[in-house]
Amino acid sequence: MTEQSTPRVPVVAMDGPGGSGKGTVSTAVARHFGWHYLDSGAIYRVLGHLAHMNQVREDDVPGLVALTHDLDIEFLEQGIALAGQNVEGLIRTEGAADRASRISPIPEVRHSLLEWQRKQARPPGLVSDGRDMGSVVFPDAVCKFFITASPEKRAERRYKQLREKGFDVKIENLLREIAERDERDAMRKASPLKPAEDATVIDTTDMSINDVISVVLEEVGRCLKIS
Ligand code: DC
Repeated sequence: MTEQSTPRVPVVAMDGPGGSGKGTVSTAVARHFGWHYLDSGAIYRVLGHLAHMNQVREDDVPGLVALTHDLDIEFLEQGIALAGQNVEGLIRTEGAADRASRISPIPEVRHSLLEWQRKQARPPGLVSDGRDMGSVVFPDAVCKFFITASPEKRAERRYKQLREKGFDVKIENLLREIAERDERDAMRKASPLKPAEDATVIDTTDMSINDVISVVLEEVGRCLKIS
């Protein structure tokens, strides 16, 4: 009997800093093609939340890695479930973002989450959103993007999003936190935030989200044709 080769699942990698619009674009692309969607930032946020709940410190690497081993996560239509409980509200706060950004530089934690993330590439396809999707997690992605925007614009978008969700936030604080997180994400040794060599870079500062989605969909169509 001849061995059947596993059909390659198309993956679109969508990297970039928070507030760049990549989450909205990723979900739109996933919906357009009827593909799965991986919000990898949410995994780091859930892990930070779990560590907080279990009093595992940010420098307790074996403790954090142990938490990655039984992550019972499910992406829902609206949010993300941890052990069956919707934790969306808990992981979207600035405190949760901060915890995620402190544990995500740890190479052992990143390594331990690799396989889980790669398993999300299931037919008919996957749009994966994060920082290192194109460079580390899915280097063979059919199409790679790096979506960015100025820190001021990203703070403004985050502000609107959080206010809509009922959070009482100040734009100056958001801007400061964004700048601090950018610095941490870009300077870390493990998977620093930077475009994969073969990524299409899109600066969305002066673009509407619909324009970004159109540009990305057109590019994905092109990638799929030549893949
Ligand atoms: O995209 P986000 O704001 O939900 O990400 C939360 C944190 O997790 C952020 O500090 C960057 C980090 N992250 C990461 O290191 N690697 C990813 N693939 C996704 C997010």
